[in-house]
Amino acid sequence: MRVPVAVLGATGLVGQRLVRRLANHPWFELVAVTGSERSVGRLYGDVVRWRLPGDPPPEAARLIVQPSEPGFEARLVFSALPSRVAGEVEAAFAAAGYVISSNARNHRMDEDVPLVLPEVNPDHLQLIEVQRRRREWSGAIVTNANCVAIPLSLALKPLDDAFGVEKVFVVTMQAISGAGYPGVAALDIVDNVIPFISGEEPKVESEPLKLLGRLEGERVRPAPIRISAQTNRVASRDGHMLCVSVALRRRATPEQAAEVLRAFRGRPQELKLPSAGERPIVVRPEEDRPQPVRDRDAGGGMAITVGRVRACPLFDLKFVVLGHNTERGAAGAALLNGELLVAEGYVP
Ligand SMILES: NC(=O)c1ccc[n+]([C@@H]2O[C@H](COP(=O)([O-])OP(=O)(O)OC[C@H]3O[C@@H](n4cnc5c(N)ncnc54)[C@H](OP(=O)(O)O)[C@@H]3O)[C@@H](O)[C@H]2O)c1
Repeated sequence: MRVPVAVLGATGLVGQRLVRRLANHPWFELVAVTGSERSVGRLYGDVVRWRLPGDPPPEAARLIVQPSEPGFEARLVFSALPSRVAGEVEAAFAAAGYVISSNARNHRMDEDVPLVLPEVNPDHLQLIEVQRRRREWSGAIVTNANCVAIPLSLALKPLDDAFGVEKVFVVTMQAISGAGYPGVAALDIVDNVIPFISGEEPKVESEPLKLLGRLEGERVRPAPIRISAQTNRVASRDGHMLCVSVALRRRATPEQAAEVLRAFRGRPQELKLPSAGERPIVVRPEEDRPQPVRDRDAGGGMAITVGRVRACPLFDLKFVVLGHNTERGAAGAALLNGELLVAEGYVP
């Protein structure tokens, strides 16, 4: 029997990708979708402005969009709600006993909420016990990180394990879809680069420290890494690109670093979770890769691509990272967290 699941904010850009990923999922069955007042009470297939190739999956199209409040049969709930509503709605679901896997930023840095990237810190799920005790609820909130923090942390993890990461300087080129739908107005972004994304740099500078941090008793001790981020919106549709320089605690040649990145496997690969590719990190040798159009769909959108690994005259190493922002950075990340939650026995 498949686990009944729901998607909150199912009509949005991230919600649609979740709905598509859940079609024919081997473990999960989509039984409920929610949206704003605009959509509630109508058929998902009629109300969704489908932004992906083809049509919405027929099983999802037949569902009636429900309000974002507890009351349906799902045991695991994926949240793709905007942050202006996600905080309270997710807490209400957890209080009603649902396990939430959220994309929204609201609870990410709460001390008792696991911020999880399954390849990096699967053990942080243990915070669920602390959360349940402190908040006196039987459900749980687990979050995935920001769509830049995810590819950055995934690339840093093997380097940190092997050589120790001390400092990171990252400059991003972020796709328009990162702003949700309709995103940035065409007249603002075509022929242009916008050197500011509201709230983004603090997230990129803080979330990786929690992801790469160590679980000590009832809290996570942040990783002792300093990160400086500059984030830019550019005119690609999907795929965030990161130019990264790192200072290491132990010296490493670019070849050694590339090998460590290439060889990296995490808990999802060990557990063979359905959404985990064989390789979470693809290392490309070409001097002009990764590129959003060519590399964002690597590993079904779940692998990050690292290229141009070379020596850095200021720090130790520099390289380029690409991750699909609405897949690896959002829908796929939430789904992988959901699969990990089931595999580790957190979904009753
Ligand atoms: N886009 C990305 O790259 C990305 C990456 C990582 C994380 N995230 C996060 O994921 C979440 C969703 O992002 P998105 O890009 O998919 O946004 P989006 O395209 O704007 O979609 C928002 C969704 O929330 C629903 N909604 C809006 N107001 C609501 C309300 N008051 N009550 C219930 N539902 C409501 C909308 O329903 P209707 O269509 O019915 O109005 C829609 O389904 C956000 O928290 C975002 O920060 C996004």
